[in-house]
Order: sequence, then structure tokens, then C-alpha cells
Amino acid sequence: MSIDWQELTDAARTASHQAYADYSKFRVGAAILTDDGRMFVGCNVENVSYGLTICAERAAVFAAVVEGMREIVAVAVYTPTTEPTTPCGACRQVLAEFNKDMTVRMVCESGKFVEHSLVELLPHSFGME
Ligand code: THU
Repeated sequence: MSIDWQELTDAARTASHQAYADYSKFRVGAAILTDDGRMFVGCNVENVSYGLTICAERAAVFAAVVEGMREIVAVAVYTPTTEPTTPCGACRQVLAEFNKDMTVRMVCESGKFVEHSLVELLPHSFGME
């Protein structure tokens, strides 16, 4: 499947504008491309009880699962930084559930980006096979 990175990147950036990040002021957006060509977005949602915060990547995954998503082809993660930011460990494990070969592109304000497969980001992820 061809990946429209421009569309995914734009969607991730737009999603970051909706972030509820009153505590960290760090606004993150994520856009997921599914195996059937659909796109889902998420942003980080913080909480006064800090540990309850949910990252943008997981918010996007959960929004997709409820619509029937079972396989992710690609993810764009946008942060308003000068260098690309990589997903946290928890998000890597959650993404791994839906295809370890997916491509993750980390994009930022400066236009710089880096790209890795999920297995590169999280080798030896937990599994029960
Ligand atoms: N955050 C994400 O949304 N994704 C990540 O992969 C790492 C961190 C959010 C969580 C919190 O709201 C803010 O960034 C600062 O940690």
C-alpha cells in the first residue's frame, strides 16, 4: 500500500492543536493509516493526576480500534520541536500489538523527520506466542 505521508503528517500536526496539555504544554499529535486505507488521529490528553495522561499515539490507536481497526500500516507522530521526538515505551508496546512491521515517521516543526519500523523502535517486544 502506498503511504501518503503528506496527508498523515498534516493530520498529525492538526491533531496536535487539539492536545489537552495544560500541564506540560507539550502538544503531540498522531495519525494512523490502517490496512484498509483509513486514517485515525489522536492527541495527548493530560490530567491533574499526572499519571493518568494518555499519549497521542495511544489515543489514536484506541480511536481506531473502536472503529474496527486491527492492523496499522503507518503512523506519523508530530511534535512542535526542532528535532523529531520518538514515541514513549508504552506507546511502542501498544503499537506493536497492531503490526510490528509498521512504519513510524516522527515529524517536527522544523520539517525534519526520522522513520523507523516499529520493530526497530521496540525490538523484543513482549508477546505470548
Ligand atoms: N507524549 C505523547 O503524547 N507521546 C509520546 O510518545 C511521549 C509523550 C505526551 C504525554 C504528555 O502529555 C506530554 O507528551 C509530555 O510528556
